[in-house]
Amino acid sequence: MASESSTLNDVERTDKRYVFGTWSYQSEVSPTQVVSGDGARFTTADGEEYLDLSGQLMCSNLGHSADRVADAIAEQASEGAYFAPGYATEARAKLGEKLAEVTPGDLSKTFFSTSGTEAVEAAIKIARFYTGKQKILSRYRSYHGATYGSISVTGDPRRLAAEPGIPGTIKAPDPYAYGSTLEPMESIEYIDEMLELEGDTVAAVLVEPIVGSNGILVPPDEYLPRLKEIAHDHGALLICDEVMAGFGRTGEWFGCDVFDVTPDIMTMAKGLTGAYQPLGATIVTPEIADHFEENMFCHGHTYAGHPVACAAGLAAIETYERENLIERARETGAYLGDRLEELGADHPSVGEVRGIGMFRGIELTKSPTERVPFGHREDKVSKGTTVVDEVAARAADEGVYVANMINTLIIAPPLVLTTEEVDEGVDALDIALEHADGAMED
Ligand SMILES: Cc1ncc(COP(=O)(O)O)c(C=O)c1O
Repeated sequence: MASESSTLNDVERTDKRYVFGTWSYQSEVSPTQVVSGDGARFTTADGEEYLDLSGQLMCSNLGHSADRVADAIAEQASEGAYFAPGYATEARAKLGEKLAEVTPGDLSKTFFSTSGTEAVEAAIKIARFYTGKQKILSRYRSYHGATYGSISVTGDPRRLAAEPGIPGTIKAPDPYAYGSTLEPMESIEYIDEMLELEGDTVAAVLVEPIVGSNGILVPPDEYLPRLKEIAHDHGALLICDEVMAGFGRTGEWFGCDVFDVTPDIMTMAKGLTGAYQPLGATIVTPEIADHFEENMFCHGHTYAGHPVACAAGLAAIETYERENLIERARETGAYLGDRLEELGADHPSVGEVRGIGMFRGIELTKSPTERVPFGHREDKVSKGTTVVDEVAARAADEGVYVANMINTLIIAPPLVLTTEEVDEGVDALDIALEHADGAMED
């Protein structure tokens, strides 16, 4: 470690010494100091510029220079940075009203928190309070957050170290045509049978409408409508976790808009402020909201509806609207999809290219004829690097930041990305993927 530490600058060394690196063996943490961002690019302390193909953690939907949002934050902070949640503020009221407008169907009343995981925690509690039932059915290839309720309903390997989690969680298979033994529509009938066998004990079915960090899994068109039907047939609510898929990522406002489905409860964070402030939101239908007129809404945080975060949320939504970023994501996303398909055709190590809008995944394989992953679920919680990590590192050598998870490169750039920048990113991936081609089985 001594040799690695000596390559770090003062800030990086101090950070490594005093701050936990998340989801990491601390001996392997080697932070790079970032100093600024502009559009779809950011710059490190040593002057290297990177094109951001993953919007940091799939959250910087507005890019790194959304001045309106920055100004709104400064204005709110100087006018009145914080008031207790029992007071109303203009920023919070207007953002609540705006979310009722941009979310689908009759979703209308919101609880504000400060992160995606808290938005999910609130959704779990609301579903339990409303239905009087306990169980939450979620899926294996999912991530819903790091706090105890959310990590318990998470299916990916980050859950395992936190087990035993909260009681009453059950896991179902996923719509993953490329990697699962079940066809997507078979997996949903399996959920139907699970709900039947659980009896009338399930409060909610919780899904990412398009799975994000677990590989960008887009279900068939009929999947989400059928899931809502199945959930309701069994007296369970449908919760859509839009923390990653929401706010233009798919070329629609929300992932569930792609399938024309309104869930009973929706969670949001990330793109809600374009990552300019930490803000989570859980929005429900009037029917659920009414339940709490005479039943206590037994939930809250000191920073619920923080004025500065709400001002950022409002300015972010105004920015999506003014700059037509949802339509732009659809158009640039179609171009991105075409370019990635071409890229996949050129590389035998690309097993599948999938996704929608500005939400794309490249899954790698060791075999040109079948799915033989380079990265496995256990690698997510093991030491060392995989070939997929190494591909991402090669892309960084080419000036492009791309996130990866298990066996898939996750491409979720700021929605302001231009088609020229798409080309630049694809060129870098083209070079980086040669590493995976070279590591294939003979
Ligand atoms: C779908 C989904 N839900 C919840 C979360 C948790 O959000 P946060 O990290 O803001 O707590 C994430 C984070 O990546 C996510 O992708």
